[in-house]
Amino acid sequence: MIISNSSCRPSRPGLAGRADLILIDGAAHAARLRAALADRVAHLQSHGGKSPGLAVILVGDDPASTVYVNAKARAIEHVGMYALHHHLPATTSEDALLTLLGQLGQDDTIHGILVQLPLPAHIDTVQIINAIPPAKDVDGFHVINSGRLMAGLPGLVPCTPLGCRLLLRDLHGDMTGLHALVLGRSNIVGKPMAALLLQENCTVTQAHSRTRDLPDLCRQADILVAAVGRPCFVRGAWIKRGATIIDVGINRIQPPPAAGPTLTGDVDFETVSKIAGAITPVPGGVGPMTIACLLSNTLSAYCSIHRLPVPDPLDLLTAPASAT
Ligand code: GUN
Repeated sequence: MIISNSSCRPSRPGLAGRADLILIDGAAHAARLRAALADRVAHLQSHGGKSPGLAVILVGDDPASTVYVNAKARAIEHVGMYALHHHLPATTSEDALLTLLGQLGQDDTIHGILVQLPLPAHIDTVQIINAIPPAKDVDGFHVINSGRLMAGLPGLVPCTPLGCRLLLRDLHGDMTGLHALVLGRSNIVGKPMAALLLQENCTVTQAHSRTRDLPDLCRQADILVAAVGRPCFVRGAWIKRGATIIDVGINRIQPPPAAGPTLTGDVDFETVSKIAGAITPVPGGVGPMTIACLLSNTLSAYCSIHRLPVPDPLDLLTAPASAT
């Protein structure tokens, strides 16, 4: 989302102003996870294994998608995995894309396939997502992987909610009985996030932009995950004192300010950080974890395909780097 209203100020880690506020450093957590993944990949290669390979497909020239895809491909290569980049024109037909997915599905050097969204309007996104073999669906968007998540079965889990879960587990440990409110109901973040929090034994409320009495509901939440796509939507007056706030929003400020961050989240950092106990900044919170979890999912897909034990990303995150 792009906003033109600069009254919604970006978060500024270090300027939060309260000594007892925990700023959840997603960039540092992501760096730890990437280092552990790089160790695993090096270990695989030194024992004669192939590099895990990820195919990244971009259709068209959407500027934000181009930035994301390049960041994903760079991150893959930095941990020693193999990135295959397909940049297709915006006029690519659905059939041509399906043919490419068929080829990549058969390709033994490719263990993960990611089609960057949104796709051009003439392409049926649901059909494309479900044409990716579930074993290579590193976004976790295929109905088989969504169904496995809902049923509590192992499978590939969407990267952003997986990253949020890792941050929450690192901060809270056991979350049993906590009231978690997920603000948003998308297939990419809101729904899988609620399922993951249920697996953590939280009492979960799924709210969205049409929910009635939203501020009152939010004030009951020990954990609030904001993924509604509206800049600074969640205000300080909505927050239970000491709550943990996970801000998934990435909203671009237009025109870009002369100095400082050009992004802001779905949470009004200025007012919320006065009440919360812990909060993710934007940028530097959830975003870096999303990419690190894509790398983790690529390694998981590789391990499943080669019938190796699938590492738990939480173990990778918490293990000392040299031990991984
Ligand atoms: N576009 C925005 N977020 C995502 C994501 O997580 N995966 C893909 N494939 N496209 C996206």
